[in-house]
Amino acid sequence: MRIVLVGPPGAGKGTQAAFLAKNLSIPHISTGDLFRANISQGTELGVRAKAFMDAGELVPDEITIGMAKDRMEQPDAAGGFLLDGFPRNVAQAEALDEMLTGAGMKLDAVLDLEVEEDEVVKRIAGRRICRRDSAHVFHVIYAAPKVEGVCDKCEGELYQRDDDSEATVRNRLEVYHTQTEPIIDYYKSQGLLVTISALGEVHEITKRAMDALKK
Ligand code: AP5
Repeated sequence: MRIVLVGPPGAGKGTQAAFLAKNLSIPHISTGDLFRANISQGTELGVRAKAFMDAGELVPDEITIGMAKDRMEQPDAAGGFLLDGFPRNVAQAEALDEMLTGAGMKLDAVLDLEVEEDEVVKRIAGRRICRRDSAHVFHVIYAAPKVEGVCDKCEGELYQRDDDSEATVRNRLEVYHTQTEPIIDYYKSQGLLVTISALGEVHEITKRAMDALKK
């Protein structure tokens, strides 16, 4: 299956993607995680992306589309993938369509995680990420690690993302409304959109998502 996950910052895309990708046996491809890996490795791409991320702005399409395409062309993604955080504007959605059409492929579904703004602000404020593997995500209240500040999965140090400050989160939400929300209509018009509520326990949302994708 080829699936796109959409939703505001802090909706739980990364959290759900980890479970959905495992259930569906497809790789989880997060452009945010790819950028963060580049930043921690000090690559040129990471250096260019960091200023945009810290400001809560989208990284320019000419950097993002090529990076996402390279990742989707890796052998493990040949049979399908779950995209988290890409596409994030209509130009990226069109580039993805073009890429898939050129390869004789198509998307199966676009899963939209719906959650109100107050809740995403709470989720982001308490989020802690593992320094060794940014796919290991915790929350100080909702998904607390057994030992404060230490990753349950690999014992890496937990930290708060630079772009999770209050001012940056406000801008990320604004960018989501103005630049990313238009892709919801774009995919609705293609008959691909599946919307579910992202409120409730993590496992309940995973079940909701799996049921919706089966339809
Ligand atoms: P990215 O990393 O993609 O960030 P985001 O979309 O803002 O999403 P988040 O990672 O903040 O949230 P999430 O929905 O994954 O929530 P999570 O599961 O962690 O992008 C970061 C930046 O990179 C962008 O701002 C941009 O600059 C750049 N970028 C990335 N892709 C780009 C692109 N395509 N084009 C241009 N620029 C791009 O959950 C959040 C918290 O809530 C966690 O603590 C979790 O434990 C908790 N939680 C999860 N589910 C629940 C639940 N059901 N109940 C209670 N708590 C929950």
